[in-house]
Amino acid sequence: MKLSQIIPYLNYHFPSENDLVKAIQEVSVNFTKNREDINDYLRDARLSSAYTAFYLTTNMPKLEGVFQWMDPLWLDKIKASMFFDIGAGPGTFSLAFRNWVGRPVDIFQIENSSLMREQAKKIWDGLYPGEILRQSISMGNLSPSEKFMLFGHSANEMGTQEVIKYIEEINPDHILFIEPGTKDFFFKMLEIRKKLISKGYEILFPCKESTDCPLANQSQDWCHQFLQVKQDPEIERLSQMAKKDRRLLPLTVQAFSLKNKKIFDGVRVVRVFPETKFSFEWEVCEKNIIHHYQVMKRGLSKSNLDLFSSIKSGDLIHVDIEKRMEKQIRIKLKLLNNSIIET
Ligand SMILES: C[S@@+](CC[C@H](N)C(=O)[O-])C[C@H]1O[C@@H](n2cnc3c(N)ncnc32)[C@H](O)[C@@H]1O
Repeated sequence: MKLSQIIPYLNYHFPSENDLVKAIQEVSVNFTKNREDINDYLRDARLSSAYTAFYLTTNMPKLEGVFQWMDPLWLDKIKASMFFDIGAGPGTFSLAFRNWVGRPVDIFQIENSSLMREQAKKIWDGLYPGEILRQSISMGNLSPSEKFMLFGHSANEMGTQEVIKYIEEINPDHILFIEPGTKDFFFKMLEIRKKLISKGYEILFPCKESTDCPLANQSQDWCHQFLQVKQDPEIERLSQMAKKDRRLLPLTVQAFSLKNKKIFDGVRVVRVFPETKFSFEWEVCEKNIIHHYQVMKRGLSKSNLDLFSSIKSGDLIHVDIEKRMEKQIRIKLKLLNNSIIET
């Protein structure tokens, strides 16, 4: 999504690029430092438009990035599902989903802020004229298709009980969380994960099994992912002016389904340690047990050195075990996100 596609539909007209940058910085400070002012952007047209210009555009690419980690059969299911965007804001993930599906979809947005609802409608009608956008839910009118519910940076604002309330009301077949990659949120996510499993949901990502998380009792470590995204040059320029890096994005992703559990092979990288002169070191989660893996650099080609440097939390690896040591397991990498590693 280009910034210039969104600008004509913003609720507030920024007199200059500098005014937009200043407003983005205000929203960003409220998100990270002044948490008590976090809701200002939901009440003020200038700040909600700044959120839309910057965060809608930079968050949209996350959806396709996240989908690359998911099982293609599950993606086929959700492509044919009704889409429920909970805490939709300006419609970030509704637009990303519509864009990914590539044809009209049944979209329901649930959003508390009237300013955001108005903003979302304006953008939707501008970009997809004639396509219906529903901003309320009448259960009587729902068709029998499967339901896919997404929480995009919203579960962290609403709390566990509210999240569960939406899930109980709508009863989705598939649920995806794309939330901040913070330690605080991870522990909230664990509560939600536990509740969903107790309701019969299976976790599809990032865990292999719907059993207790091995990081639940750790205070220093938490499971989150990183996405490297390519932003449009207009957005890149805005990011630089606002002094915010929106290329490497930390996030917490968890996916659930009532059916269709497919056990995947391989182990999930949950933490990348700093590279040493001799080795790459990763913490991985295998059947909900944490291991420390090590790959020696000696003998690796230049292209594999570059490839291994690019590995991030969230990636799936297949390995051969070479040697078990007291603290680490030395391995040879065979597949990265299901692509063969040439040696
Ligand atoms: C950070 S914004 C995220 C917007 C959008 N999903 C995105 O990723 O860009 C969080 C949104 O959640 C909404 N929200 C918070 N609590 C809510 C609740 N209980 N019900 C509906 N929306 C809620 C807020 O109004 C806000 O628009």
